[in-house]
Amino acid sequence: MSRPLIKKEHSEEISNRSSNPVFSEVADAFLSRRRFLQLGVVAGAAVSFPLLLKSENALAASGASPSKLAKAVSLGFTSIPVSSEDTVIVPEGYIARPFYRWGDAVGLKGNLPEFKKDGSNTTEEQAAQAGMHHDGMAWFSLPQGGESADHGLLAMNHEYIDNGMLFKDGVANWSADKARKGQNAMGVSVIEVKKNGQQWEVVRPSAFARRITVNTPMQLSGPARHNDLMKTAADSKGEVVLGTMQNCANGHTPWGTYLTCEENWSDIFVKKGEMNALEKRYGISDSDDSYRWNEVDERFSVDKTPNEPNRFGWVVEIDPYNPNSTPRKHTALGRIKHEGAAVTIAPDNRVVVYMGDDQKFEYIYKFVSDKKYDPANREANLSLLESGTLYVAKFNDDGSGVWLPLVHGEGGLDSSNGFANQGDLLIKTRMAADVVGATKMDRPEWIAVDPHAAGSVYCTLTNNSDRGKEGKAPVDAANPRANNVFGHIMHWVEENSDPAAPRFTWDILVMAGRTNGEDEKAKGSMKGAAFGSPDGLSFDPRGVLWIQTDVSSSTINKKAYEGMGNNQMVATIPGTNEYRRFLTGPRGCEITGIAFTPDNRTLFINIQHPGEGGDDLTDPANPTAVSSWPDGDKAGRPRSSTVVITKADGGIIGT
Ligand code: FEO
Ligand code: CA
Ligand code: CA
Repeated sequence: MSRPLIKKEHSEEISNRSSNPVFSEVADAFLSRRRFLQLGVVAGAAVSFPLLLKSENALAASGASPSKLAKAVSLGFTSIPVSSEDTVIVPEGYIARPFYRWGDAVGLKGNLPEFKKDGSNTTEEQAAQAGMHHDGMAWFSLPQGGESADHGLLAMNHEYIDNGMLFKDGVANWSADKARKGQNAMGVSVIEVKKNGQQWEVVRPSAFARRITVNTPMQLSGPARHNDLMKTAADSKGEVVLGTMQNCANGHTPWGTYLTCEENWSDIFVKKGEMNALEKRYGISDSDDSYRWNEVDERFSVDKTPNEPNRFGWVVEIDPYNPNSTPRKHTALGRIKHEGAAVTIAPDNRVVVYMGDDQKFEYIYKFVSDKKYDPANREANLSLLESGTLYVAKFNDDGSGVWLPLVHGEGGLDSSNGFANQGDLLIKTRMAADVVGATKMDRPEWIAVDPHAAGSVYCTLTNNSDRGKEGKAPVDAANPRANNVFGHIMHWVEENSDPAAPRFTWDILVMAGRTNGEDEKAKGSMKGAAFGSPDGLSFDPRGVLWIQTDVSSSTINKKAYEGMGNNQMVATIPGTNEYRRFLTGPRGCEITGIAFTPDNRTLFINIQHPGEGGDDLTDPANPTAVSSWPDGDKAGRPRSSTVVITKADGGIIGT
């Protein structure tokens, strides 16, 4: 019998048992708004909210100008149908080709191991190969500082592993070496890519090629560096952490660095003794069926190494142009289950980073740097994420919102609530956000900043089947659907179009769901392509918004999603409410990771976990039971892969 696959679906569990906001406050807010709007109903404890759905008028009033943009930008491709085929499908006139699969050589000089399709690559070989489960990804033109569209670097995450797929014999004969191979299959790849004629290739060997794993040394920066809770026997000063893990979504900075975000790290750390409040709030695992690294590596046993989990849950900055650079974990950006880190620059040149915490009823954050971005001084920019103010979002029911600062000594964030200093507070970011009364959201995933509408920001809320259940947080205006299995996409506009502003106004871009059927609760508000569980989210350089879905592998084309096909990617131009389906993935996968070349003529996406059959580990005796993508070899293994997409005529993607 296979073991449960302890992985991202842990996001669907709940660690937030805090009581903010209390129901009476929500009801009061609702009632006052109800009087104003003369809409909505109260029936017992069930509250329903009129949707603050985005319309072109609302956008114009908000100061954003997508209606103007909508006239300038259009979608030129024909929407494709849903698919349950075991392949990647794109519209006519487009070419999609997998080109950096799990197990492909990353391109280290003198070390180009070939993938063995029976899972028998060694631990050392895996460290020189693409990791498993590709996720967030960013493009960096070569040379650095330029805008090249045919030669560059791709930095990408390898989020998690499937022990049933990774080894020839799965978890049998479990050993320290097996744990180490798993650690070498997570982390980050940096690869050099180049277009030769019409064909993209991975450059091998490459001086830039790099694998960052769960054992790569990285520096701690910011207020939690040197904090007592960060010290371990191996690092008595709290300065240097080995590795990064569960690297989910990402960000990239204008100074040419990559941000990788640590999401479901709590699944790896196992504690058998009684958990303290911090461990409970972050959902440290107590399972024998986790990754099992704790059995053979004391670092991952919280009973033995209690502070090690505090060293994960951060945003890590990597300089892809310098393969010898030491990655840095920036504690000023808070410790959560980080989904992504969307970077923008305020009018006064401070850096703003938007971040989601992907678990049911968790929060949306933003960081504003103390220092200012200087386009002419890359060296100075490398320290911008080391100091600043972290805020958490409160979405009021009247469509206004406020960023609540998480600053020691302010708003009850002091020793009376268990926060000794700013570093301590940042290690306990979720608990600080509870105290100030942030809004519990329906699993915040990716965030995207509109490049053509200053201060206009979007966030996918992928789903939350517990919303409105008895004993759980009720619906509110920002999370208006009980049992929200399809998710929605939030939009907000910062005050004065300034990303560093303390206030914003918000509405909902789209409620995901079906476009047919009778069930009001399952209805999507979009025109065109139906979709659910939005996750990946990014604007292309033209201003088209691309949405990637992550319906969990146990639900794809089943249950509420029956007939909706494999995971997919759709495109929209905000303000039009028209959605077109651009890509459908193979069986069992999610679509994630997105990067455009600066000329908008090449699109890279990632196919993650093709062949995943549900919540169990893959059966090592039958790894292709669900999918044999991309190799099509029933005797091989399905492999996560980057896919390069171009237009056959060399044109601009989406036109
Ligand atoms: Fe790794 Fe929240 O997706
Ligand atoms: Ca995700
Ligand atoms: Ca997801």
